[in-house]
Amino acid sequence: MAQAQDQLPTPGTSNTIVPEKVREGVDLEINGRSYRHTGDDQMPLLWYLRDVLRLTGTKYSGEHGEGGYDLVLVDGKLASATNLPVVKLAGKTVTTVEGLAAADGKLHPLQQAFVDEDAIGCGYCTPGWLMASLDLLNRHPQPSDNDIDQLPNLCRCGCQTRVRRAIKRAAKGAQA
Ligand code: FES
Repeated sequence: MAQAQDQLPTPGTSNTIVPEKVREGVDLEINGRSYRHTGDDQMPLLWYLRDVLRLTGTKYSGEHGEGGYDLVLVDGKLASATNLPVVKLAGKTVTTVEGLAAADGKLHPLQQAFVDEDAIGCGYCTPGWLMASLDLLNRHPQPSDNDIDQLPNLCRCGCQTRVRRAIKRAAKGAQA
């Protein structure tokens, strides 16, 4: 017994006790502004945007992002914000729907095209459509109907046809 006690580590010197790492925070850029998140670094981006930054354009889209209501761009690529932990965004740039309009409030050409084609019903799906459309136009400046129909977005108000027209209008405007 005495020998077993002798083997116990001296308090404060045990290499089995690992001090908790100092939480320094996650630095990321959202819509051109720098942020440091010092809370739970596993927090999904969706809730960081909505509950911490109050950027509520990105919408809840089901447990796995079904419907595409939660889409954002991360380093210019389309991503679902639902299951994307903030820690994975360290040093990256995020663009949400709030980042599309110009600083003076002028709508992004895609936003304007959605307005012009009356492609907005209740509006719940619109931010997701805009982000997916932006990504599509970056990859295919003149998308076909099929390209547009492949987008992951759902619209329960039945705006798909008008959304398709809006995307094509924006594409045409960019070409002119
Ligand atoms: S505009 Fe209502 S869900 Fe699309």
